[in-house]
Amino acid sequence: MHPLEALEMQVSQCRRCDLRDQAHGVVFGEGALDSHIVFCGEGPGAEEDRLLRPFVGAAGHLLDKMLDAMGFSRGKNAYILNVVKCRPPGNRVPLPQELAACRPHLAAQLSILSPRIMVLLGSTAIQSFLGPQARVTRVHGQWTEHQGIWLMPTYHPAALLRNPSWKVEAWSDLKKVIDKYRELVDPDHFSTHYPLKISDKNLPPGTIKPQCR
Ligand code: URA
Repeated sequence: MHPLEALEMQVSQCRRCDLRDQAHGVVFGEGALDSHIVFCGEGPGAEEDRLLRPFVGAAGHLLDKMLDAMGFSRGKNAYILNVVKCRPPGNRVPLPQELAACRPHLAAQLSILSPRIMVLLGSTAIQSFLGPQARVTRVHGQWTEHQGIWLMPTYHPAALLRNPSWKVEAWSDLKKVIDKYRELVDPDHFSTHYPLKISDKNLPPGTIKPQCR
């Protein structure tokens, strides 16, 4: 059994806070177990709690489209998780004690996955790593490093559904993520919406470079 699957069995028994009492179950996370990139949200909503899968409601649908545009998918090369694993009642923001109770589970997931990059989706994920003062509107698009993981804060897909005009800034954050992924993980990483510049590639001298963006 993969260590992440063993951890999931353990976390599914968790009673470290009261969220589990009202939730249908634990939404551990999902994706490719050898992912070098993780996308981190706040916590499960109603649909996620029903299906016990992260980001499967309206925000999840948009997240999947964002991943697709970047050349990622949860089945292939990305892992999706949340800072809290059980649905807060009525989708309220998780309380500090709930975040603290769930933190060891998140830390254990990251220690097993050992990603190079983590995209922090929205305030709760951002503040969990950058501190309570961090505001998405101020910090989005700026890299920081945390225990060997490059963190990119950006807008939560639910916020993008409410404010579609933020999508322009979000896409510019996500292009930085693609650049970093090409730098750290796969120089040939393919994205339909952000093709590799031919000048990024070491072509043999004399090669005629086609225009691609
Ligand atoms: N919002 C989140 O932050 N996480 C989910 O899994 C779904 C919606």
